[in-house]
Amino acid sequence: MFVSKNLTVNENGNLAIGGVDTVELAQQYGTPLYVMDEQLIRKNCRSFKKSIDKYYDGNGLVCYASKTFSCLEMCRIIKNEGIGLDVVSIGELYTALKAGFDCSKIGFHGNNKTNQELEYAVDNKVGHIIVDNIEELYRLDKIAGEKNVIADIMFRIKPGIDAHTHDFVKTGQIDSKFGFALETGEAFEAVKLAIQLENVNLLGLHCHIGSQIFDIAPFEEAANVMLGFIAKIKKELDFEVKELNLGGGFGIMYTEKDTPSPYDTYMKNVSAVVHKKCEELGINLPFILIEPGRSIAGPAGITLYTVGARKEIPNIRTYVSIDGGMCDNPRYALYKSEYDALVANKASQEKTDIVTIAGKCCESGDLIGENMPLQYAESGDIIAVCATGAYNYSMSSNYNRIPKPAVVFVNEGESRIGVKRETLDDIIRNDI
Ligand code: LLP
Repeated sequence: MFVSKNLTVNENGNLAIGGVDTVELAQQYGTPLYVMDEQLIRKNCRSFKKSIDKYYDGNGLVCYASKTFSCLEMCRIIKNEGIGLDVVSIGELYTALKAGFDCSKIGFHGNNKTNQELEYAVDNKVGHIIVDNIEELYRLDKIAGEKNVIADIMFRIKPGIDAHTHDFVKTGQIDSKFGFALETGEAFEAVKLAIQLENVNLLGLHCHIGSQIFDIAPFEEAANVMLGFIAKIKKELDFEVKELNLGGGFGIMYTEKDTPSPYDTYMKNVSAVVHKKCEELGINLPFILIEPGRSIAGPAGITLYTVGARKEIPNIRTYVSIDGGMCDNPRYALYKSEYDALVANKASQEKTDIVTIAGKCCESGDLIGENMPLQYAESGDIIAVCATGAYNYSMSSNYNRIPKPAVVFVNEGESRIGVKRETLDDIIRNDI
């Protein structure tokens, strides 16, 4: 009935998440409200960890992509699950450090890291830095040299794979701002250079072909290409690449139209390709890393809103306006991403209406979705938008000077604040 398995209808006919009544959550904490189900986050971490342990004989690491959803409490949960972290800015790294994350399990990404970020990563002994370009390689070598340390690095490689997903979230093809191209020989030259440089240690290679991908084939293809490259490096440079990070990108179910493969199937199939290819090429099996983000946090989250106005435009459409919008969820405005929604206080009723859910920002494109099936929604009703745990809070803004919503974690019938709601004073806190 629901796209996320952690949602139920309780005895009051209300939507419940993690055993907590969403209408009560809305009353207690106000709306808009992000709600994250801790048990589901943990379950998702565990299932990836279990698969990687199973298919690579314990020779791998799952790193949660913290750009998906990060705050101190999320980093604590991830840390507690014993998996690693992918950070992409000094802010994400700072959050992880403040949560007491083990630095050796952190990988630092980004296509344009600043010197401040590189120095901060080196000073804090981040496990490895994923170098994106030659210019960055030289800068990092210099920074590490000045600090008398050797920085462990990986290279971000564009394997030349076209993943079938939205253009804005594709990253594996040659026309991408991320990483070194294989086809042009750029990646090979970078490896040659890194081997010669004194203050960096090339640990491994990384690729990430995109996000919200359902097919397993592009992941298999990427693994093949990357291992082929590792074999070439071994043969031509007599250098062993010890680690291979295959990125994230596993699709989740936002609506009934989405059909993700079970993640264990992905892990199994890709590992079969990895094992076979290593054998064929006569290379050692590298240590394997993966970086799921959306598939860990996405299904665990919902957003609760209060309905304000209902506007029926005869023969055109019905707008149901909510007290949030593109400021807390810009994904429809950016990618036309579809969501499943329901009236939380009418969760047991049929969805008899077709509506457009509109936000409160001064922009016509500020929608959560169009032509969405919904129970009849009136002013004062609570709307729940499902599977908003990924790239909603993390991409939220203060557009129209709207304070950001609170994040509440629920866990087996209990709720607690993870991030406080912004106040009006927060809105002007840096204004002079
Ligand atoms: N690793 C790297 C290097 C990445 O760039 C990303 C996501 C991930 C891992 C995690 O991918 P995931 O498992 O979450 O698909 N804002 C967009 C998604 C951007 C993805 C950015 N990179 C959205 O809302 O759909």
